[in-house]
Amino acid sequence: MSTRVTRDPSQAAAVLARGGLVALPTETVYGLAADVTRTDAVRRIFAVKGRPTDHPLIVHIAEPDDLMQWSAGPSHAARRLAALAWPGPLSVIVPRDGRIADAVTGGRDTVAVRCPAHDLARDVIRRLGRPVAAPSANRFGRVSPTTAQHVIDDLGDDVDLVLDGGPCSVGLESTIVDCTVDPVQILRHGGLPAEQVAALLEGPVAPASGPRRAPGMLEMHYAPSCRVHPVETVADAADLETALSRTGAVTAHLDLSGDVVQAARGLYGALRDADRQGATDLVVVLPRAAGLGVAVRDRVSRAAAGR
Ligand code: TXA
Ligand code: MG
Repeated sequence: MSTRVTRDPSQAAAVLARGGLVALPTETVYGLAADVTRTDAVRRIFAVKGRPTDHPLIVHIAEPDDLMQWSAGPSHAARRLAALAWPGPLSVIVPRDGRIADAVTGGRDTVAVRCPAHDLARDVIRRLGRPVAAPSANRFGRVSPTTAQHVIDDLGDDVDLVLDGGPCSVGLESTIVDCTVDPVQILRHGGLPAEQVAALLEGPVAPASGPRRAPGMLEMHYAPSCRVHPVETVADAADLETALSRTGAVTAHLDLSGDVVQAARGLYGALRDADRQGATDLVVVLPRAAGLGVAVRDRVSRAAAGR
């Protein structure tokens, strides 16, 4: 049986309403979505992904203002970021509303919320009339999907419907900002650079303190099957490729040192391509550690920690 694929948001909303799982396009990566109020469907997300149940999901809303409905007393910083950065690649951690099940938050008293900048995704959520809970639509620990085909390749029939919204424009997951602490903390670098978060807040942002701040931010993650070797310069890459080839490795090359927006957009597809082409080793030239480059470097280093 082949995976069901559509471009019709009403079909996607109907599948969600009856407790099904839908792969939903967003500007960051594709999500594996369930109606946030259907605990049975939310539990199935964890089963399909093979994800530990204490790794909480992100709640996706259609309108920035819906933050007020689906959280309990968001801080000034959370409301400001929602007003200024949404729809967009940012998730805020806020106190949890009572209607959000333990299954979504892993029993935490906080919840991650975001309003994606993707018309099709927002249309589906509006039609459903409730938010959707969604992690990235990949098996646990693997590379996140940035096209409908990536989802089909990974999850096949384990997802009830794939909503094809084209390739993701950002290509990296959302930035996660814990707004329950002052100053706010960046729990995960992502599509909205930390510098921009600070500028929008007109105030300081802190790095995550303590290893368990964002459960699920494992050292090994986003990993293809090949070994990944991050290097700083094109010259280093050439030297390393030569050395690897001498040992019999089948090398591939990915230069992320040019336009960083393009680097982010193409990263996950390139990791998948390296596997498909049978590379044993992928040498990656990193972007500068500024702006979006911080998130790109983070993902490459986690991919490298995988093997
Ligand atoms: O761009 C994205 O954020 C994508 C798209 C689909 O929206 N979603 C995504 O979800 O990347 P996921 O499940 O792969 O990563 C969500 C991460 C978790 O690993 C966890 O670290 C953090 O969000 N998180 C969720 N709720 C949290 C909470 N209450 N406190 C701390 N961290 C939380
Ligand atoms: Mg993920």
